[in-house]
Formats: sequence, structure tokens, C-alpha cells
Amino acid sequence: MSTETPAGAPAPVSPQAQDPPTDERAAERRTEPVLSVRGLEVAYPLRGRRLAGRHRHVRAVAGVDLDVHQGETLGLVGESGCGKTTLGSSIMRARPEASGSIRYRAADGRVLDALALSSADAAVYRREVRMVFQDPQSSLNPRMTLRDIVGEPLRMLLGLRGRELEARVRETMERVGLHPDHLRRYPHAFSGGQRQRVSIARALVPGPRLVVADEAVSALDTSVRSQILNLLQDLQDELGLTYLFVSHDLSVVEHVCDRVAVMYLGRIVEVAPTGELFAGPLHPYTEALISAVPIPDPRLRGTRERVRLTGEVPDPSQPPSGCPFHPRCRYATDLCATEEPAPREAAPGRTVACHHAESLDLTGILGPVASDASGVDLPTRTRREPPTRQEKDT
Ligand SMILES: Nc1ncnc2c1ncn2[C@@H]1O[C@H](COP(=O)(O)OP(=O)(O)OP(=O)(O)O)[C@@H](O)[C@H]1O
Ligand code: SF4
Ligand SMILES: [Mg+2]
Repeated sequence: MSTETPAGAPAPVSPQAQDPPTDERAAERRTEPVLSVRGLEVAYPLRGRRLAGRHRHVRAVAGVDLDVHQGETLGLVGESGCGKTTLGSSIMRARPEASGSIRYRAADGRVLDALALSSADAAVYRREVRMVFQDPQSSLNPRMTLRDIVGEPLRMLLGLRGRELEARVRETMERVGLHPDHLRRYPHAFSGGQRQRVSIARALVPGPRLVVADEAVSALDTSVRSQILNLLQDLQDELGLTYLFVSHDLSVVEHVCDRVAVMYLGRIVEVAPTGELFAGPLHPYTEALISAVPIPDPRLRGTRERVRLTGEVPDPSQPPSGCPFHPRCRYATDLCATEEPAPREAAPGRTVACHHAESLDLTGILGPVASDASGVDLPTRTRREPPTRQEKDT
């Protein structure tokens, strides 16, 4: 099941020991991003489908630029098929089709290009950048015990064996709320929430710094979803983790993310601090997405206009000319049909790809959105302030 390969065995380091102290992390956050994606392209060939004698492609990720800062939770949202998983799996180096650059600042301060790693640096990257998948049922090998599932990255990436390995597995199981005595059990013996804790333990065990969580709570019952979200937040606080949190559920994103990136047809169309994005979106697609978030307070229902998106998401193998959103945009002009808007900084810390962002007066949501939009008792932790522009520039 694992694709991990043995590596030169560095001294085992616990997650806490590997993270720099808090003041150092704050200093790190003020400098460069921990992950910087530039001009990322992923095109899947469409077998058997030709146009003018050439194979057609789905341009699943179309020139994405994105920064993830140390210690933040960056949400990645958008409709099904917009390219969220392809972007996340490219960061995990699971997309050989990917081109562009994905620069990662490792714990030792070196900047690694994830798309061009030596085998030694690939092992460093696999230790420090980890993934939690949506469906623990299919991502955990049913024939492996918890000890082997959680211990495999330690064996493959850190060269641990025997008691040392088992002690680290037990420690990590406790950290994620699993009973360490359940070491010899198989995944089927656990509930969906417990299995997701196993997935988190497997991601966490080699001491990562960046975790890509792709719809990590979407497959869970509403009753356990908030427990797993709370666990992810506690782990972030304890270990100084950075998250790329992929989700289609904006009510969850609003509660757990510091900043949000909105994706449409393979492009990032808006990036903003969470509060600003929900209160005052700059891109018409963001406005439409957040207008669909349910309002929990019955007294306030009907006070907000629901922007209904017309038409289907376009076929990504034949994207519209100009702005890819123009066939569905109620603000589109002639310019929008012919010229694709490039992402630009429209306000401090805010990026948008829309010709008319400054002249549109779009509707957002003031105050927290549906805290129980999907029946989930969401975490109530106060969100940390994202880095200010001044902090990022210094
Ligand atoms: N292996 C593949 N081969 C061909 N096309 C693919 C492949 N994987 C994804 N695609 C296509 O690439 C586009 C982006 O897919 P992706 O799974 O990244 O979207 P997503 O935003 O994660 O969707 P969802 O919210 O449904 O998970 C879609 O049009 C999809 O059909
Ligand atoms: S560029 Fe035009 S079509 Fe695209 S989002 Fe802006 S207003 Fe709408
Ligand atoms: Mg997906």
C-alpha cells in the first residue's frame, strides 16, 4: 500500500523536537512562506478523444500560484472537479504530469523544489510534508495492524525498528486519542472517526511540518466531525503544524481556516484572510459560493440574496475563452469574454483574478456563518490572526 522507499536513516526526532520554538516560528512566518507554488500546471490526457488530430487534455490545474505560510491553516475551496485534489496531490508529488515549481522550505532552512528532488531530499520531503485523506476506509490497508500502519513511515523514512518504533507508535496513538493497547488491532475494528485518527497518526508519526488534508472530515458522521476538527486544531497548536485544508464545506472552512483560496476550473480566483473573504468577497464566484452557505439563525433567513449560478461547470478540456467564469457570471462584460484576468493584489493580503473587482460591490456574510450548517458542532477556538502584509514583507 505504501509508496514510501527506504531512506538514509537520520536520528529519530519527535515532532516537538523537530519544530523550532514559538518565537523562532513567529520569525519564520515573517519571512518566506513554507510552501510556494508557482505556475503549476497539471493536464490529464483524455484517451481516445482527439481534436484536430491531437489528443485532448483536461487542464486540471492551470497556472496556479499559491503561498502557504508557516503555522497557518489555508483553506482550498471550490466546486467538484475544479482541481483541488489535483493541486493537493501535486504538492504530495503524486502527479507526474505536474510542471511549474513547488518550493518547500525544509526544517533545516533549505528550499527544495518538490518537482525536482534528489532521492535524499525526497525522503526529507516525505517526512515533512504529509497527507490526510478523505476516506480512511480505503486509505488504510485492512490487512495491516495499527502498529504496522502507523509504524510503516517510521520504518521506511526514519529506519526505526523494534521497541523504539513501537514506543513512537504508542506515543503518537495517544496523541491522537487512540488507546495504545489497541496496537495489534486491524482497521475494521474501529469506527469511522477512530480510523480517521489512525490516518492522522500515520501522517503525524514522522514529525511533519506541513499537512495536506483533502476533505479530511467530509466522510465522517456529523457527530464525530467536530471531534476530528478539534483534534487537528489541537495538534496544530501543540506541534506548530501548517495545514492546507481542502474542503467543499464553507461553513467548516470559515471556522478552521486563517486564509482561504478559491479555485475555479483549475485557477485560483481569489485568496484572502477568512474573515475578509466572507464579509466582503472580491470575486463574483466567491460571492456565489458563500451566498449558498446556510444561515443558522431563522430570524436572519431571507435577509441575504442567494446568488444562483446559472449553467454547469464548463468542461475543463474545453474551457471558455476570456475569464473562465464569464458564461456564469452576472457581472460579465465584453472584455470578460475575450481576455482572461490575471491574479493581482487588489488589497493588502488579497489576491483576485477579475477585471472588475474594484468596481463591483459584492455581498458577503457579516459575522460567523452557519456554525451548524451541516449539523456539525464546530470548534469554537478563536482564530489566530493571519500574518499581516507588513509582517510578511519584513
Ligand atoms: N486521473 C485523472 N485522469 C483524467 N482526468 C482527471 C483525473 N483526475 C482528475 N481528473 C479531472 O481533473 C479535474 C479536476 O479533478 P479533481 O479531482 O482535482 O477535482 P476536485 O476539485 O478535487 O473535485 P472533488 O471536489 O469532486 O474532489 C476534473 O475535471 C477531473 O475529472
Ligand atoms: S472577469 Fe468578468 S466574468 Fe470574470 S469574474 Fe470578473 S466580472 Fe465576472
Ligand atoms: Mg477532490
